[in-house]
Amino acid sequence: MKINNLNLLYFRNYDHLYIEFHPKLNILVGENANGKTNIIESIFLLALGKSFRTKRDSECIKFNQEVTCMSCVIEKNCSEKDIMLAINNKGKNAKISGIKKNKLTDFVGELNVVLFSPEDLQLVKGAPALRREFIDREFYQISKKYHRCSLMYKHLLKQRNSLLKDIRKNRDDELSIIYLETLTSQLAKLAVYLTRERVNFVNKISIFAEKNMLDISDGKEKLKIVYKSSLLESMNLESTDNSDFNENNISSIIMSRSKEDIYNGNTKIGPHQDDLIFFINDVEARQFASQGQQRSIVLSLRLAEIYFLKEYTGEYPILLLDDVLSELDSFRQNKLLDSINENIQTFITTPDIKEIKENLLKQSKVFYIKNGIITENN
Ligand SMILES: Nc1ncnc2c1ncn2[C@@H]1O[C@H](COP(=O)(O)OP(=O)(O)OP(=O)(O)O)[C@@H](O)[C@H]1O
Ligand SMILES: [Mg+2]
Repeated sequence: MKINNLNLLYFRNYDHLYIEFHPKLNILVGENANGKTNIIESIFLLALGKSFRTKRDSECIKFNQEVTCMSCVIEKNCSEKDIMLAINNKGKNAKISGIKKNKLTDFVGELNVVLFSPEDLQLVKGAPALRREFIDREFYQISKKYHRCSLMYKHLLKQRNSLLKDIRKNRDDELSIIYLETLTSQLAKLAVYLTRERVNFVNKISIFAEKNMLDISDGKEKLKIVYKSSLLESMNLESTDNSDFNENNISSIIMSRSKEDIYNGNTKIGPHQDDLIFFINDVEARQFASQGQQRSIVLSLRLAEIYFLKEYTGEYPILLLDDVLSELDSFRQNKLLDSINENIQTFITTPDIKEIKENLLKQSKVFYIKNGIITENN
């Protein structure tokens, strides 16, 4: 898949912008705070319908403006599609080839991206939510069902937690307990599905990532990735394939903890509490991995995502490399750049064009960015 062009209106520090991209490599060069990441962010928004930098997408609207609009033409399976997203303070308006998409789940998935940014180095040692988001981001791009179920789960979880708090204030309300049971059984149904899908995903992506890690470390470092499910653990089960891993049992196990949940005002177990555990040579990376090893894990994972998406969608995703070259030593840089094959359209931001190897420049477009103005240089 390729992005042919990008159109921005009042997006962050851009007024009006129209650029045509190179089918292979696009290099965005500029000093700090001039608008390189903003371009990457707009492409990400067109893919996932939300930003990776902020929870409030309206922050992307240029100061003193009321609306921002971004659009691009993508090419995949030999046909072109127009993707458009507009954001104002009230919400979003999304269209694909002129057809309005009322739900985010109907919009996401047309444009597939893999983003590698400096914040990724938090993935190994940072909060579990980051690792859950890594899984979700990948899934939202390939499965509308997963996307819908995940949003529904979050919605029901919020309702359940607020009900738990209500019950804490007013303990002997029988109706509330019945409502709690109903919500719990609805939640359990989604929890079974989400956990199963995530376990399968982790098993698949691990195969790619483990191979990449061996490659990056010259065969010295063996990566293992395990999905840590709070539900499996609380049921003492090894696998989601076990027939005991079903919605009735899960509903009962969540309800059996309701006393504690009411006391805490939140739900203790479920996919929202799960985590990914990385091991290098059988040692847990979260505690013991060096900076370099953490970088290798993240690089292995991001490269694995590319091949995972290719397997699922039949097309290579767009690769967005935001300021990551300076984060990697030259050996890992080379591994990354070598793995960008001809068919992966890639966007690299860098403060210094010298970071890019000469031979890559031959088949690329270089854009110089200053204060939200872009000039193309060949
Ligand atoms: N909503 C907005 N309206 C106007 N300008 C904005 C808005 N949001 C961010 N900016 C400006 O965009 C600039 C930052 O852009 P960006 O993050 O793309 O920089 P960058 O080139 O990636 O820098 P670095 O090399 O430091 O990563 C800042 O000058 C910031 O003030
Ligand atoms: Mg930046």
